[in-house]
Amino acid sequence: MISEKQIASLAKEAESEIKKADSFELETLRIKYLGRKQGIITELFKEIPSLSLAQKKKLVPQLNKLKNEVESLLANAVVESRQEAKIKKVSNSVSDSDPTVPGIKPQVGHEHPTIKVINEIKEIFHYLGFGWQDGPEVEFDLYNFQKLRLHKDHPARDTQQTYYLSEETLLRTQTSNMQIRYMEAHKPPIRMLFPGRVYRREQIDATHLPSFYQVEGLLVDDKTTMTDLIGSLDFFARKLFGEKTKIRVYGHHFPYTEPSIEIEVLHSSGRWLEILGAGMIHPEVLKNCGIDPKKYRGWAFGMGPERIAMLKYGIEDIRLFYSGEMAFLGEF
Ligand code: DAH
Repeated sequence: MISEKQIASLAKEAESEIKKADSFELETLRIKYLGRKQGIITELFKEIPSLSLAQKKKLVPQLNKLKNEVESLLANAVVESRQEAKIKKVSNSVSDSDPTVPGIKPQVGHEHPTIKVINEIKEIFHYLGFGWQDGPEVEFDLYNFQKLRLHKDHPARDTQQTYYLSEETLLRTQTSNMQIRYMEAHKPPIRMLFPGRVYRREQIDATHLPSFYQVEGLLVDDKTTMTDLIGSLDFFARKLFGEKTKIRVYGHHFPYTEPSIEIEVLHSSGRWLEILGAGMIHPEVLKNCGIDPKKYRGWAFGMGPERIAMLKYGIEDIRLFYSGEMAFLGEF
């Protein structure tokens, strides 16, 4: 017959056994006490129908309590033994370590192809005496357009639509803003590059993105000529694409240069591809920056490093630069 005493002593016995058990023994103990066929507690429950009503009232709650206690002791012990096993595993692997096994090399990152090309451009022009400086991507309409002779209703603005943050501030559409900023703050002679990110309203396709990089070049002194400009860009193209590279020069129009040109290089495919716009700085632009056009003259150019990387490495789709695809990035 079940008794109060029996229940109490079973509770104690189960507790002490569970506390001592390892993870395999825990399962044996669960079967011993709670097993569906002959578990000790299970068997006690089977005796309930033969008890008197008074005994039932007294003992059934105690039996339920015992069952719950044993269940939760077992559950906690299982969790604890798992954690211990984990700790053991870690400390074993430390003590088992073999100092003669070669180490695991961390994966070292490298420059993005765009940055790589920008750095090459900087290096080539550094050789010609050019420094470089960053510029703001959020710019005044005044610096991005107006001081470059792109006044408010100038039709050339249509090709450079952008996001306005207010009536007068926008995401810059070109690095040419830095021509103005730099000339306002510095006296000639000037030889500078301005690499950076620009933004335009573009339909995305294989050759267009709404955000991309440009590198602007600027030279101002008292005697430079168009020949210096073309000679410098020819030197640049040969250094970047190889000594045999051919360039050709086209007349073009930009509001901030006069005369203006575009330069194309002969691609291995046999096609001529445009790589940059350039020209002699318009006297009015010099004047807008407080530089006397009667005393000074200069030239400027702007190129897209992604386009140049595409040419140099034979990349067909500009979207790859921003895809974050390791298979692509790993090639450089
Ligand atoms: N800003 C022009 C563009 O985004 C590129 C450019 C053309 C820059 C002529 C210049 C320049 O400095 O002289 O298409």
